[in-house]
Amino acid sequence: MSKRCDITGLSAEDINLFGFLHSQLIGELELKEVSNESLTGFEKPLQRTVSNHRFSTGDLKRKESLIKHLEKSITSKFNGSKLTAFGSSESGLSLKTGDLDLCLQAAKVDQKKVIKRISGMLRGQGMESVQALTRAKVPIVKFTDPRSGMHVDISINNTLAIHNTKLLAQYAKLDERVKQLAICVKHWALHRNLSDAPNGTLSSYGWSVLVIFHLMKEGVIANLQSGEDRTIADIEGKEYDITINDISKSDSASKASLAELLYSFFKNYATFDWENEIVSIRSGKSLTRDEKGWMNEEPSALDAINRSKSPRMGEHHLSIEDPFDLDHDLSRAVRAVGELKIRDELIRATKMFGDGETWKAICETIEPDRLKDMEPADIFHDLRDKTDDVVKSMLEKTNAEMSALEKRVEAVDAERKSNIRMAKAMRGVIEETSDLRKEHKSIIINLKERNKNIDAIKKSRDKINSDIILPIHMIEDELAKVYSRLTEEIDIHRVPSLKREKTHFSWFLELQAMHGKAREASELHQRFIELVTEQKGEIKKLKIFETKHDEATTKLLEQEPLLKDKNINSNEARSYDRRTLSIQRALRQLRGDLHKLRRESGRLEAWLRKKSGSQSRGRRDGRKGNQRKQKSQGSKESSGPMTLGDISGLLSGMGNQTSSKKPKKVSSKKAGMRKLGNLGAHRGSRGKYEKKD
Ligand code: UTP
Repeated sequence: MSKRCDITGLSAEDINLFGFLHSQLIGELELKEVSNESLTGFEKPLQRTVSNHRFSTGDLKRKESLIKHLEKSITSKFNGSKLTAFGSSESGLSLKTGDLDLCLQAAKVDQKKVIKRISGMLRGQGMESVQALTRAKVPIVKFTDPRSGMHVDISINNTLAIHNTKLLAQYAKLDERVKQLAICVKHWALHRNLSDAPNGTLSSYGWSVLVIFHLMKEGVIANLQSGEDRTIADIEGKEYDITINDISKSDSASKASLAELLYSFFKNYATFDWENEIVSIRSGKSLTRDEKGWMNEEPSALDAINRSKSPRMGEHHLSIEDPFDLDHDLSRAVRAVGELKIRDELIRATKMFGDGETWKAICETIEPDRLKDMEPADIFHDLRDKTDDVVKSMLEKTNAEMSALEKRVEAVDAERKSNIRMAKAMRGVIEETSDLRKEHKSIIINLKERNKNIDAIKKSRDKINSDIILPIHMIEDELAKVYSRLTEEIDIHRVPSLKREKTHFSWFLELQAMHGKAREASELHQRFIELVTEQKGEIKKLKIFETKHDEATTKLLEQEPLLKDKNINSNEARSYDRRTLSIQRALRQLRGDLHKLRRESGRLEAWLRKKSGSQSRGRRDGRKGNQRKQKSQGSKESSGPMTLGDISGLLSGMGNQTSSKKPKKVSSKKAGMRKLGNLGAHRGSRGKYEKKD
């Protein structure tokens, strides 16, 4: 087993990883005080960092245009809903690479279902890298808008975040150093890989809260959550004190420069008593563990790392209280390695300040690949080393694919429409003929009932008839004969016979019984005849209804020939609905692909246009012998990388050029703007596309 430090228990490998922190823990760290001269030297690079992260008017327009577009397309799908921007893009504490956070507020919705629905919609709109993170603590849809290159997160009913954004925005208004320091700290944290909550370090929001706490302590800003007047809000059934004092400018007691504040930020947190104190901007001072009730849960980051290869540590070691959600420790996501790394880096930065190192060295990027996705992409990077002919043939190929796909989309859309029409028409026929169907049904039910009766009567009649040997008229004749024999005058010349008398009587009685049965059979037969006649009449009626129904259906079918030879019933109509849904899904995918092809075609055209433009400009300049350095956007773009945002301007400009309409007269100012190309992020063509669909 490798040797471990007697004091910290860290292995040699870990001592190498967390060298500064280790020196501090074993009492060997020496921090030199920064000189005034050195601090002055920091001022310029820090201001440059701040201005590099400033958003241009074009960036802001693109952001606004994207928000508007999303607002329109998403809120229209959820009744009474509202889309609100929050996070650093609203508070003003954002780096240029920061993402756009949006919150959809909608009553009584299932968050996961909404997230899934929105992601489907966004894919259909051609948004890229759409991910539905339904299992996260705060479920979100993550995606990239290909036009602006902006990364966007949409969460649902994340109302408290809207309030804490207002608080940060209000702090940013108090003193410009809030924004400046936040940007420098976040810039450093980004490059030193310390601001990635999903990977076990602090969230960007956590760093903002640390900045505010530090500026309060330094007397730059006042506490905006103090005072007697409180605002309480009920959010999802829980009460929160969301008081924000409405102070827009404070007369700061501190005149410290940005460099001084950044240095003291690093120094204070490098030496902060994390063991016993909790950062609380709500209180305007740190809280003791007892005051807050948050204990250092076992194991500590050091213990966790020394014991295990994949260390899990207890909670509340780098405790930062959320200003509104008082149960929320912003360091909850921080893992053992993350905590040690953050503390090590804070000491490193403090030491480098004191050692007279540069801001650039302090922010030297760790794992640069990590930031590739965040940097605005050079949209033409793959075209720069290609000849015009190659790009032209790429364009031809893309256009051919695009028109093939357009036809396919048209065909699939026609199929979708025909399915909808079929289901509608079928329901129409079912509705129109519903009265006839009802009567038809009731006749059929009666027919069945009557048939049963007829069968029963026939059975009883036949049973009697099989028991009686004589038909009724013969019984009656025989009865009359026996009766007269029994009642005729006695012939005095004949010898009376008792036996014969008896035989006659018994035959007479038998005939009488037979007669009763025969009458019953004859009545049954009568009823049988009546019912059969009735049944025949009803069958005739049924045929009439069937003819009427057929005629009505035929009439309707004349208006809707699609239904010819089809089975018309509700099940069939439902199966058309199902088919429509699956076609719609396929169509969304196809439209997304088409959108990408359109964009690619626009990009290739823009590149060719840009190249031919710069060549002709070059020739023009050459002819005039003009040696002036071109500062125009065109020349800057042809040399440097172009962002996704810039291409949006180029494409909109292209739209203007290809238009066959007569140009309108515009003021000279507008004409100048037009020459520059429309750099705003127009979603115009997208709008048109939707309308056409
Ligand atoms: P981020 O961590 O992405 O911050 O959280 P950000 O937008 O880059 O920068 P900040 O917040 O201006 O420093 C985005 C938003 O999510 C909410 C906050 O409103 C934050 O502004 N949030 C984030 C919380 O409410 N709690 C958290 O623990 C994290």
